Amino acid sequence: MEFFEAVKRRRSVRKYTNSQVPDSVIHKAVDAALLAPNSSNMQTWRIFWVRSQAQRQKLVEACLNQNAAKTAQNLLVFVADPSQWQVAQKAILEKAGPNPQAQIVSYYKKLIPFLYSWRLLAPIKWILYNLMGLIKPTPRKPWSSRDIDEVAIKSCALACENFMLAIAAQEFDTCPMEGFDEPRVARLLKLNCRARVVMVISVGARSPDGIWGEQYRLPKEIVFKEI
Ligand SMILES: Cc1cc2nc3c(=O)[nH]c(=O)nc-3n(C[C@H](O)[C@H](O)[C@H](O)COP(=O)(O)O)c2cc1C
Repeated sequence: MEFFEAVKRRRSVRKYTNSQVPDSVIHKAVDAALLAPNSSNMQTWRIFWVRSQAQRQKLVEACLNQNAAKTAQNLLVFVADPSQWQVAQKAILEKAGPNPQAQIVSYYKKLIPFLYSWRLLAPIKWILYNLMGLIKPTPRKPWSSRDIDEVAIKSCALACENFMLAIAAQEFDTCPMEGFDEPRVARLLKLNCRARVVMVISVGARSPDGIWGEQYRLPKEIVFKEI
């Protein structure tokens, strides 16, 4: 399907039919999700496809029994887990081989550990960035754990969108959900305490009454400015 057709086809679907979605459709969309741009290529997203009937039932309950979850054959949970930054750091350094470029070494061996760890230095980082910012343009973040979470959540949200568009391009449907009980979802997936559940996404084939009305967006003049 052409890109703009897939963008237009994607709607949040709250009721699905009983039609099965082939596994290959989900895998193809997950592969597209993993191609999303992400901060420093740290790929701190983790995607869980909850396949067991019993676990799915628990997840539906954690999603407040919403129709979009209840009627779906497939539920995937997109998680941002900044504690996993060393997985990609190690892989990228290994891929760079025995004589990596100087920029790769300084970025992934020095800057990334400084940004992602050294948490006790958070107040010092804040002072340092803001003092430097008085003299020249300086990135003021991330200095806190919360900032690092935000970085991971942004990247994960981009993976979510790639995933939903890839499902739409294959003529199936999705609904992104943030209406869930996060500690319950985290317990179900056995997540560590740094991980954040970004979205639960249901996947299926839309029922004729599965879409709530026409798609509405604010007039472009309100949200788009050329300056
Ligand atoms: C981060 C996020 C969370 C959302 N959470 C829910 C949700 O919990 N339940 C639901 O039915 N729809 C949810 N939606 C869907 C939105 O309501 C929907 O995208 C919006 O109304 C626009 O409709 P459209 O997606 O059909 O264009 C969510 C969407 C996003 C992006």
